[in-house]
Amino acid sequence: MEKELKEISQDIRKEIALCKDIDDFWLLHKKYLSKEGRLSILFQSLKKLSTDKRASLGSEANRIKKELTDLIKTKEIKVDQSSNLDDYFDPTLPGKKPAIGHIHPLTKSINRAKMIFEGMGFSTIEGPELEDEWHNFDALNFPKDHPAREMQDTLFIKQKNREKLLEKERLVMRTHTSPVQIRYMLTHKPPFRIIVPGRVFRNEATDASHEVNFYQIEGLMIDKDISVANFKAIMENFWQSFYGKKVKIRLRPSFFPFTEPSFEVDMSCTSCKGRGCSVCSKTGWLEVMGAGMVHPNVLKNSGVDPKKWQGFAFGMGWDRIVMMKYSIDDVRLFYGGDLRFLKQF
Ligand code: PHE
Repeated sequence: MEKELKEISQDIRKEIALCKDIDDFWLLHKKYLSKEGRLSILFQSLKKLSTDKRASLGSEANRIKKELTDLIKTKEIKVDQSSNLDDYFDPTLPGKKPAIGHIHPLTKSINRAKMIFEGMGFSTIEGPELEDEWHNFDALNFPKDHPAREMQDTLFIKQKNREKLLEKERLVMRTHTSPVQIRYMLTHKPPFRIIVPGRVFRNEATDASHEVNFYQIEGLMIDKDISVANFKAIMENFWQSFYGKKVKIRLRPSFFPFTEPSFEVDMSCTSCKGRGCSVCSKTGWLEVMGAGMVHPNVLKNSGVDPKKWQGFAFGMGWDRIVMMKYSIDDVRLFYGGDLRFLKQF
């Protein structure tokens, strides 16, 4: 029996050296240490020996069993780590945080504007960026062949025999969000209370305050007796919620073919509270939008009876408003896709 113990011990050592992977060690375990393994069988036969012999041989057998078990374990761990190093996965390591995207500052502020206007009963409407000349100009009371069409630095779309096409077939990139007023009025019944945020396009050289595309938020409110006073109240309310400060507005006479009377709207400068600073060129006021009472011809072109209905429209250049809110000095930053800029919002 002593001889057999020695043999088993030698055999295991030999076989360990031949083990190449975890499966080999598993077989080794099975062959020697499992219930039917050689060592276990040897332990069974110890029981048949006399007490003396069993004590001395038993402790020797136990010692060898422990030694071999430990040996197998350490070798096994080594093989396991080296053979699987490439796809070794440690589930206790902390995970990698995925980079989370940011909502663009323009989108974020438009969402905020929507919320404020929706709180005053306005619905948010969208329209196509590729527009036809009829909706972009004619329906809005731009006279035919009037320089105003060029005045807006229109990007006309190349089309075959363009001059022979009808206004509704000639395509342009919309120069403002006002055509959506027409689209909405033609398909809905008054009263109206809508805002239209969206991208508009102008054929301009870019610089710190000009881009070929930028955002506008259009507004339209039509009912039986809407006046300029309602416009002023709604706008003051809006600015106050948007900037979180009391804001005054003032109207200056202006011209748009689609409103009469028309005005440019100035807002008291939020940076200096009207005292005069670099943001407002020391005037205390900032020009923020065009507006006016909707021209009767525009209502007519949209199937709305101007004898029964009246109201105001406005169009804000949104980029400038957001620039002012966050003290951004170059409009091109909005469209450059530079993460160093975008991550700040
Ligand atoms: N559409 C005009 C522009 O782009 C702004 C405007 C809208 C003015 C509605 C009056 C009424 O300049």
